[in-house]
Amino acid sequence: MERKVAVFRREHFNAAHRLNNPGWDDATNSKVFGKCNLPHYHGHNYELIVKLTGVPDPETGYVMDMKVLSDLVREKVIEKFDHRNLNLDTAEFKDLNPTAENIAIVIYDILRPAIDSKFDLKVTLYETPRNFVEYPA
Ligand code: NI
Repeated sequence: MERKVAVFRREHFNAAHRLNNPGWDDATNSKVFGKCNLPHYHGHNYELIVKLTGVPDPETGYVMDMKVLSDLVREKVIEKFDHRNLNLDTAEFKDLNPTAENIAIVIYDILRPAIDSKFDLKVTLYETPRNFVEYPA
């Protein structure tokens, strides 16, 4: 019987963003996004949790070497987003509203091709200690 185990790696990055729909007027953007629409951006301390699910390797006992996973997340995600303005500094959010939902989807799409397809992958992203999202749902 194959017994699957979930392993988790937590990483952290700081980034600035502004929520805005360019198809709406200023009043509508302000009404929908509130302070998150303020024109001069604001920052968040994002907590990222990457979850991998798979069967431990019979030789190592690992689902995946956590050092390898940590290096991957840092290289592909943290280096890209940490201390950046998501709207201005990253191609991913040039035309995509950088909500926590969309950031989680973007991070999943970056990591998925880099992780063996035998593993299930889930991304959890905390925008604040009380607000967080999960993808895939
Ligand atoms: Ni915000």
